Amino acid sequence: MPLLRLTVDGSPREVDVDTRTSLLDALRERLEVTAPKKGCDHGQCGSCTVLLDGRRSLACLALAVAHDGAEVVTAAGLGTADEPHPVQQAFLDHDGYQCGYCTPGQVCSVVGMLEEAALGHPSHVTADLDPDAGVDLDDAEVRERMSGNLCRCGAYAGILDAVRQSVGAR
Ligand code: FES
Ligand code: FES
Repeated sequence: MPLLRLTVDGSPREVDVDTRTSLLDALRERLEVTAPKKGCDHGQCGSCTVLLDGRRSLACLALAVAHDGAEVVTAAGLGTADEPHPVQQAFLDHDGYQCGYCTPGQVCSVVGMLEEAALGHPSHVTADLDPDAGVDLDDAEVRERMSGNLCRCGAYAGILDAVRQSVGAR
């Protein structure tokens, strides 16, 4: 089986994986990195979202062997209990979670989304596609850009408030 080398939340990790193993299963089942959650395992819920070489990715759709040498950051690697990442603090401030199952993916997705917007990446609802125009992360943009992350207990209002705070703190 191929040997996979990753940096996960700042620590070098190695694991033998079957070529069919998803990054999510390599993290959760083999490396006991449990911040990313397995919701649907089909790319539909976003609960497995991690930052893969700096970009948000669905770990359930990523083949582990295709990412040898990659840097993976999960919600657990973004901050600590004493010093949470500003996005994590915003979720706490605005009660942007209820059961918390989707929250690690939501938080990683917000961090990735803020970076995408800062780089001028348009979304489906961006009116001005001029890359120099910048992206105004209004509520419509946030809803569109976060539409791949589902929350079955309806914490969306709090999540939107948390993103508004995160945009201001960026
Ligand atoms: S578990 Fe990956 S998108 Fe649902
Ligand atoms: S807080 Fe997201 S699924 Fe419950």
